[in-house]
Amino acid sequence: MTVFLVTGVTGNLGTAALRSLLVHVRVADVRVLVRTERAAAEYAARGLTACVADYSDSASLDRAFAGVDRAIVVSSPVLDPSVRTAQHRRVVGAAVAAGVRHVVYTSGMGARHDPGHSAAEDALTESSVHHAILRNALYTDPFVDRALTQALASGVIQSASAGQRIATAAIGDLGDAAATASIIMPTKQLWELRGPAWNFEEMATALTASLRRQISQEEVSDEETGPFAVLFPLVRRGVFASESDGLAELLGHAPASISDVVHSLVSQLNQDQHENEGFSARKR
Ligand SMILES: NC(=O)c1ccc[n+]([C@@H]2O[C@H](COP(=O)([O-])OP(=O)(O)OC[C@H]3O[C@@H](n4cnc5c(N)ncnc54)[C@H](OP(=O)(O)O)[C@@H]3O)[C@@H](O)[C@H]2O)c1
Repeated sequence: MTVFLVTGVTGNLGTAALRSLLVHVRVADVRVLVRTERAAAEYAARGLTACVADYSDSASLDRAFAGVDRAIVVSSPVLDPSVRTAQHRRVVGAAVAAGVRHVVYTSGMGARHDPGHSAAEDALTESSVHHAILRNALYTDPFVDRALTQALASGVIQSASAGQRIATAAIGDLGDAAATASIIMPTKQLWELRGPAWNFEEMATALTASLRRQISQEEVSDEETGPFAVLFPLVRRGVFASESDGLAELLGHAPASISDVVHSLVSQLNQDQHENEGFSARKR
């Protein structure tokens, strides 16, 4: 029996990685690392072994990794670099000390400029553990989520991209890639995972097709893009424009395009609305 451990399973990427792993691996062979007893009970009810642990607590990590053969370690969402760096050193250190045979670490684009990702990558490369570092692109989904909200409200989506392209990746594809890397244990250790590049004109076209109404796009200031304000200056400089083959290579097929992600989120929205209408009708 090969024991797999997945961290971050209550989040976007960990959810996708776990879902994908469970397509190939028996539920009894999968352990999840969660932070609360409540979450542990929810996963246990699904047949998974759940360990309560925290990247900031070495003893809890030692318990979680004991007896694990392969691990998918999702990076910490903490923004403070000093906290995140220590967390990543701790979690990779615990995996190595426990004798885990293969570690998949979900890193990010430009990891060498990020102390947190660098700490995890260095800890893995300096160890003798077999590993795969997956430098994930920006997620496509939050861009589409925001554009879909704007499209439905006004028919106009906004960006400060100046027409520049962005090679993002769907969270589902990145989750599949992490699960695949854990299963096949590739000899290549460093992967740049990006999907096909797109621009907001293409996003508007995809929304027009999926929503069956005309959606246009307009250029606004960085400030007007809200939570994306820090990203757009980099987008305009082309920092996220270049594609790479790594994601397609790990997946064994083309990664989701902007149209695929738009279509999938619009379908999900329609399904949710349909179910809510059914629920309201049943209540009446
Ligand atoms: N590529 C991108 O565009 C992008 C965007 C955002 C973030 N990221 C990075 O990629 C990671 C995964 O993204 P995501 O969207 O899945 O993030 P997310 O939805 O915020 O999920 C983060 C996961 O990490 C867990 N976690 C938080 N602090 C922890 C700790 N101290 N010890 C153990 N587990 C902890 C959370 O558990 P709880 O439910 O208990 O909080 C949650 O399961 C992020 O953490 C961040 O480093 C990438």
